[in-house]
Amino acid sequence: MELKNDGKIKLNIPLAAEWKDGELYLLDQTKLPTEVIIEKQETAQQVWDSIKVLKVRGAPAIGIAGAYGLLVAIKQQQNLSTSDFINYIKKQAEYLDSSRPTAVNLSWALNRMLNKAKSFSSLSSHDIYARLEKEAISIHEEDIECCHSIGRNGAPLIENGMGVLTHCNAGSLAVSELGTALAPMYVAHSQNKKFKIYADETRPLLQGARLTSWELFEAGLDVTLICDNMAAHFMSKGHIQLIIVGTDRVAANGDVANKIGTLGVAILADYYKIPFYVACPFSTIDLNTPTGADIPIEQRDPAEVTHFAQKRVAPQNVSVGNPAFDVTPNRLVKGFITEKGIINPPYVETLKNTFG
Ligand code: MRU
Repeated sequence: MELKNDGKIKLNIPLAAEWKDGELYLLDQTKLPTEVIIEKQETAQQVWDSIKVLKVRGAPAIGIAGAYGLLVAIKQQQNLSTSDFINYIKKQAEYLDSSRPTAVNLSWALNRMLNKAKSFSSLSSHDIYARLEKEAISIHEEDIECCHSIGRNGAPLIENGMGVLTHCNAGSLAVSELGTALAPMYVAHSQNKKFKIYADETRPLLQGARLTSWELFEAGLDVTLICDNMAAHFMSKGHIQLIIVGTDRVAANGDVANKIGTLGVAILADYYKIPFYVACPFSTIDLNTPTGADIPIEQRDPAEVTHFAQKRVAPQNVSVGNPAFDVTPNRLVKGFITEKGIINPPYVETLKNTFG
């Protein structure tokens, strides 16, 4: 980890998504931490699969991958008439959006691209493509700025000697760079604060073990990996004074969808009177979804639960539940760490006033 001349932190790990010379490259996060593989994305179907199987994952990162993925999907169709091209963009955006339902960043980014295309309906298809490339780059650059601001706004919450718990991966690998939940930790570390981070392993797909502990460890932060069912123990022993998680969608009333297991962490935090914060950029706040009950929850393949490291650990044909996310009610959220500062309750008003 190093500080650049502009005061921003640079982590020495690969980026989740990169747009280089008109091509999209995604880091295959399913192979981390043992292998670092970066794949060029050649077709819409490849991008769809990369999002579905979590080669790229984390709400802001799939928004960025979706925006660039749309360019991959439409690149070869620039010979179409403008109206056919816009219809084609709409179909491809719907297709990419069908890869994952919960993180609002994906549909947000694709809608933004589609609306941009529609606003240029007097231009040629070639010019529309050029404008859309600029738009995707803006979505990416805005996320970078948001993450650094979230880091600066959240760092004052972290004090010397604290234990900070996080769940899943809301770090650099889940966004453009730096992270949301992990950004305040990187900034606090750059300010020479001494604190410990506890990373829940995050069953079933182990984003905490494979990704969070890896990126924090690589950056030289003091991280301790724990199994999900150890969080209560560490809280009860007084090891944890602060919790920061990311989110896939914040409803208008402040209910929060995040990786399965987050709700349990929030309930424990309430019991042990530990402040529970959620870090996110504006693109994750969905004022069109009234409450958490209205957020679609992705159901994933039972094999993710019945198997561990490709090995069966459950009886064949046993019934399995595998919701990828749960919803934490707003009253358990102490505040939202955003690029616009920390947002406090009552969320129906404060979220609307800040992001409406
Ligand atoms: O299924 P995943 O790995 O995409 O889930 C990711 C999370 O739940 C993150 O906490 C969330 O997207 C926030 S990322 C900054």
